[in-house]
Amino acid sequence: MTSTETPAHSPEPTTNASTAMLAPDAEPHILCTDLVRIFSADGVEVQALQGLNLRVDPGEMVAVVGASGSGKSTLLTILSGLDTATAGVARVAGHDLLSMGGRERVAYQRHTVGFVWQQTSRNLLPYLTAAENVALAMNVAGTLRGAARATRVDELLGLLDVGEMRDRRPGELSGGQQQRVAIAVALANSPQVLLADEPTGELDESTSAAVLEAMRAVNDELGVTTLIVTHDPTVSGHVRRTVQIRDGRTSTEVLRSTRLDEFGEEQHVAEEFAVLDRVGRLQLPHDFMQSLELRDRVRLALEADHVGVWPGDEGRADAAARRSPEAAPQPTAPTGSEPAPPGGSDAPDAAATSRRARRAAERAAEASAAADASAGTDTSAGTETKDER
Ligand SMILES: Nc1ncnc2c1ncn2[C@@H]1O[C@H](COP(=O)(O)OP(=O)(O)OP(=O)(O)O)[C@@H](O)[C@H]1O
Ligand SMILES: [Mg+2]
Repeated sequence: MTSTETPAHSPEPTTNASTAMLAPDAEPHILCTDLVRIFSADGVEVQALQGLNLRVDPGEMVAVVGASGSGKSTLLTILSGLDTATAGVARVAGHDLLSMGGRERVAYQRHTVGFVWQQTSRNLLPYLTAAENVALAMNVAGTLRGAARATRVDELLGLLDVGEMRDRRPGELSGGQQQRVAIAVALANSPQVLLADEPTGELDESTSAAVLEAMRAVNDELGVTTLIVTHDPTVSGHVRRTVQIRDGRTSTEVLRSTRLDEFGEEQHVAEEFAVLDRVGRLQLPHDFMQSLELRDRVRLALEADHVGVWPGDEGRADAAARRSPEAAPQPTAPTGSEPAPPGGSDAPDAAATSRRARRAAERAAEASAAADASAGTDTSAGTETKDER
C-alpha cells in the first residue's frame, strides 16, 4: 500500500471527486457563504472571518485546519449557535444562524448540534460519572427516560470504547478517555451535526490519533455530519476532506481517496485544490507568490483548459524567466510552447489563437491514438477510484 501527495500546483486537470462533492443539488448540512465576523475591542476592529465559504454535505467528516488566529474557533462558535456572524450566510441542518431567535437557538443547541471542546474540563462535569454526564445531557434536552435512557448511555459509551469507565468521574480517566466520554455526551441527543474545536489539543500524538479514529468510527456508524477544527495538520490523515483556512477565509482543500493501481493494489492519494468562491476569488499559495514575486497585480490569460497567471510587472516576469525551472516553477502552461504574457506587445491575439488551435489539434490526436490503442489492447490497466471514509 502506498501513499501519494499531489499538490494543488499540479497542472493536471482536477479529478471529478471535488466536483461531485460540491454538486449544488443536495442541501448541505453546513453552508457558510461570504461569512464575516468583526470583533471590536478597545476601538480596534479585528476581522476574524473575512468572507469565508464552506460547504459540508450530510454525513461528511471534514477537518478545518489553520494557524493560530486564522478564525477557526470563531467559525465553530458561530456554527454552534454561541455567537452570531456580522454578515453573510451560515446555515446548519436547515437553521439560518444569522436570523435565529432565542427559542430556536436553545432548541438548536440541544437537538441539532453536539460540541466537543479542547478543554476536557469544559466538556464534562467533574463530580458526575461518565454515565451521569451523558444522562445529564439527555435530561437537559428532555430526551429518552428510564430504561431507554440507560440503554442509550451504555450504547454510546460502548461505541466510544469507554463502556467500562461508565462509573468513573473525569478525574479518574485519562485525557483521551475524557474526550471519548465528551464525544458520547455530544452525541447524547442524536444531533445531526457534531462540531469539535481542537478535540485533541491537550493530548499526545498517539492518543490524538486514537480519538480521531473514534470520531471517524462514530461518523461511519451513525452518519453524523462531523466538522473538526484544529491547528494539527496530521488530522488530514483521518478525514477524507481537509479545508485550510487562512486569514479568515478558506484557501485550499485536500481530498483523500483510494485508487487501485494497475496491479490491483490500493493507493492512498491526497490531492490539494485551491478553493474558488462564487465570484471567482481564490488565494494563491504563498510559495507560488514568493517564487514568481507575484504581488499587487498579475496578468491572467484564459487558455483552452486552464488559466495562466503571470507577474504583472515585466521586470519581475523577466527575473522569473531567468531562474531555473527548479527554483521558479513556471505557471501552469502546457509544455511545448512558451506562453507570452497577455496584453503585452508580444502577445497578439492571433498568436494566442493559433497556439490554442495547435493544442486542441494535439489533444485530439492524442485522444484518437489512445482510442486506437485501447480498441486493440486490454483495457483493464486503468485506475479505479472509490471513496475512502
Ligand atoms: N471576542 C473577541 N474579541 C476580539 N477579538 C477576537 C475575539 N475572539 C477572537 N478574536 C480575534 O479573532 C481572530 C481569530 O481568532 P480565533 O480564536 O477564531 O482563532 P483560532 O484560529 O481559533 O486560533 P487558535 O488556533 O489559537 O485557537 C484572532 O485575531 C483573535 O484575536
Ligand atoms: Mg481556536
